[in-house]
Order: sequence, then C-alpha cells, then structure tokens
Amino acid sequence: MSNFINSSIGKKLIMSISGLFLIMFLLVHLTANLFLLGGSDAFNLSAHFMDTNPLIQIMQPVLALGFFIHILYGIIIELQNRASRPVNYAKVNQKDASTWASRNMIWLGLFVFAFLVTHIINFFWVLKFGELETVFVDGEQMENSYALVSGLFMNGTTGIIYSVAYIIGFIALGLHLHHAFWSAFQTIGWSNIKWRKRLTIIGDIYAIIIAVGFSIIPIYFLFIN
Ligand code: HEM
Repeated sequence: MSNFINSSIGKKLIMSISGLFLIMFLLVHLTANLFLLGGSDAFNLSAHFMDTNPLIQIMQPVLALGFFIHILYGIIIELQNRASRPVNYAKVNQKDASTWASRNMIWLGLFVFAFLVTHIINFFWVLKFGELETVFVDGEQMENSYALVSGLFMNGTTGIIYSVAYIIGFIALGLHLHHAFWSAFQTIGWSNIKWRKRLTIIGDIYAIIIAVGFSIIPIYFLFIN
C-alpha cells in the first residue's frame, strides 16, 4: 500500500481524489455564499445552518485534511517533476502541447493557497472563534455574519483592495480548475477520446461558475448594494 502511495500514479491519484473532493466543497460553499445576495436575514440563516449542522461540523476537519493532502502532494509532485525534467528541451516542446494553466498549476495553486490563508483569517476564524454581535432572525438569536462579510467589502479603499484581491484569487482558482477538472477524471481513468472533449467543456463551465459566482459577491457590495 505504501509503495503504491509513493509511486507516481499513486501520488497523482491522491491529487485527483483530493481535488475532486475540493471541487464538490466549492459548490456547497458557493451556494451558501450566494445567500448574501438575498440580504441580511437570508445569509445569517444560511451561516447559522452551516455553523450548527452536525454533518457540516464533521466535514470541516475532513476538508482541512483534504486541502492539506492536496497542497502537500502538489508540492511533492512539482518538486519531483522539476528534478526529473530535462530543462531546455522541455521548455521548447511543452508550450506546443500544453496550456498555460497546465504548466503553472503549482503557481496557481500556491496563489490560491495564499488567498485561502487570508480568507480563513478574515472570515472563518472570526466566525468560528470571534465575538460577533448577534441578531434575531425568525425569533432565533444568531451571529450577524452578514455584517462581518459586508463590512469587509464595503470598507472604503481597504474594501476595494480586498474586493479586487478576492476577484483575482478566484480568477486564479478558475484557471486552476480549467486544467484540473478534466485532468482529474483522466487520472482516475474516467476519460476517453470522446469524453475528454466533453469533460473539458463541463470543466470550463464549472470553472466559470466558480470564478464568476464567487466574484459576483464583492461586485454586488461595491456597486449594487
Ligand atoms: C479549492 C481549491 C482547489 C481545487 C478545487 C483543486 C483541484 C485540483 C484538481 C481536481 C486537480 C487535478 C488532479 C489531477 O490532475 O489528477 C488539481 C491539480 C493540482 N493542484 Fe489543485 N486544487 C485546489 C487548490 C490547490 C492548492 C491550494 C494548491 C497548492 C499547491 C494546488 C496545487 C495543485 C497542483 C500542483 C496540481 C497539479 C498536480 C499534477 O501535476 O498533476 N491546488 N487541483
């Protein structure tokens, strides 16, 4: 078993399974975030549900582990690829056969990681361990998560800088997913010549939904709200 995990295909398989798990998580996260567009009560109810639902609570450490494994193996694979790559020869030929995103998965991933750390400090940590003001929605007392999120985006120049960084972070994630989606299916063996084209299209639609869906939120607070 440990031989398999340490083999090239074993590592690649770990990347694809952890990546597909993260792909599913992003859809749940986006759905919860889009409640922001429904106003204060809608989002506070959604955040309260996420905060009190036992399944979500169980999934949180699993999610952290998924990120940890994905990032760790991403770095290991990248370092191994660099060590075994014949530098000049590869540089010339790679460009013809691959996309920019596929050649820069590690940089896109590390950029997303930097964004993720900021995001955890600003939102997750404060929501989980901070002292937030409370509001009553439908007679139930809960934390005013909406005030925290809207406050970060609508905070003068700092809010604009934060919003732009947020959008750039999700463009990087969209580019990561543009290559990642079909590649993961290829790795687990669920792809062939016919499906490769379809998976590329489905992957691009998914990547656009994620990048645009998350970016709508700062745009909404900056311009519409
Ligand atoms: C929510 C965020 C993320 C999602 C949904 C995601 C998803 C994926 C998926 C599905 C793959 C394809 C695996 C395969 O080809 O079999 C992949 C590849 C990759 N990811 Fe991520 N990823 C995310 C964040 C990150 C982060 C933070 C890093 C940081 C290092 C990273 C680094 C990589 C690398 C280096 C590869 C290419 C590995 C290879 O050469 O095969 N990813 N990602």
